Amino acid sequence: MTHVLSIVGGMALAALLAAPAMAAEDKDVIDYRINLMKTLGEQASAIGKIMQGKVGYTANLAIHTDTIANTIEAAKIAFAPKVVGGTAKAEVWDNWKDFSDRFNALQVAAKDVSAAARSGGMDAAKPKVTAMFTCKGCHDTYRTKEPAK
Ligand code: HEC
Repeated sequence: MTHVLSIVGGMALAALLAAPAMAAEDKDVIDYRINLMKTLGEQASAIGKIMQGKVGYTANLAIHTDTIANTIEAAKIAFAPKVVGGTAKAEVWDNWKDFSDRFNALQVAAKDVSAAARSGGMDAAKPKVTAMFTCKGCHDTYRTKEPAK
């Protein structure tokens, strides 16, 4: 069974690798950027568990904030093409400078927490974490309440 599965998996991978380069479909662009945003949600939730002392794992804080910083690097590319949909408003692209500045600010804040956590542990990182709470401000401005489609 394992053997069959690995053959099927191998074939699917081969098909993916063989697919010709083509322009991404709008739905794929939207799904992809939602994948990234969900990653932010998961990481933020994991950070919450650590900060509230519900789990130990304090050494993982910098890993989560690094993941946020890296995900935003990918998100800036994912949001660059104007594809209105999901819950993203057209204002994202009408006000691209403001929108991308908000991503940049969150990325800087996340890296700041990583650096503090690595050099000074939780005591140093704790006061810096609130600077990462920029999610809602951007969502309130740039997301429709319900998915547009
Ligand atoms: C620069 C603006 C901006 C910032 C900052 C931002 N987001 Fe988002 N987020 C968006 C936009 C726009 C969407 C809608 C994407 C779409 O539907 O295409 C979104 C969607 C989401 C979603 C919903 C994904 C889904 O299931 O549809 C989650 C979860 C999310 N963001 C989490 C976060 C978290 C957590 C943070 C902060 C750590 C954050 N975001 C910071 C702009 C932002």
